[in-house]
Amino acid sequence: MLRLDGVSVEIAGAPVLRRVSLAVPPGGRVALIGRNGAGKTTTLRTLMGLLAPSSGEVALDGKPCTALPAHHRARLGIGYAPEERKLFGAFTVRENMLLPAQVLGLPGSEITRRLEAVYSLLPELRDFAPRRAAGLSGGQGKMVALGRALMVGTRAVLLDEPFQGLAPALALRYAEALGRLRSALPDVAILITESSPDLLRSLVDSTFVIERGEIAAA
Ligand SMILES: Nc1ncnc2c1ncn2[C@@H]1O[C@H](COP(=O)(O)OP(=O)(O)O)[C@@H](O)[C@H]1O
Ligand SMILES: [Mg+2]
Repeated sequence: MLRLDGVSVEIAGAPVLRRVSLAVPPGGRVALIGRNGAGKTTTLRTLMGLLAPSSGEVALDGKPCTALPAHHRARLGIGYAPEERKLFGAFTVRENMLLPAQVLGLPGSEITRRLEAVYSLLPELRDFAPRRAAGLSGGQGKMVALGRALMVGTRAVLLDEPFQGLAPALALRYAEALGRLRSALPDVAILITESSPDLLRSLVDSTFVIERGEIAAA
């Protein structure tokens, strides 16, 4: 269970999140919907430990982790696919996917096991594996960013506007991949942000709406 409890966040002294509470249970697929500037990315960065709340609590599986740095949360099994994919262009797709797991110091056998599991969920990544990330289309890069988040996210995965900028055919494939995660990863909590609920409707079991830093509806 990934949980925010009454979390407020200020950036440069300005309130950006106000008493945000939301929870994603194990195996839950939850959407966070809000227009540009509403606070979706700030919410995910706070869950990941890249921003510190001024008040409120963040918890994973019942344990408070508000003060834990991001690399520690990654080690607990929270994976994050940021809005701007942040792939290393000079590295291959395979290297990009391995990097976070290597930085966490996971044993090689575990890294190989996870990579095979990701390939079986997202088979096209096996085909892209030897290619340089710089040569990928935007949509292919999104798929790699999803695979990379899954390499680390054994408890929870945070996906920031994964459909943004995807051509319809790729959006469909991406949605199919997310659909497969439900049966393949029945215990992983997945939180997905989007500006519109349309693409997520059939993929999630609950939806939170955020407006100007506040949860407006659940
Ligand atoms: N680095 C920053 N400096 C100043 N303001 C920021 C910064 N990041 C975000 N904000 C403010 O926080 C609000 C929420 O941003 P964000 O979480 O990125 O929204 P969303 O992801 O929903 O588009 C925005 O209105 C923006 O003005
Ligand atoms: Mg954003």
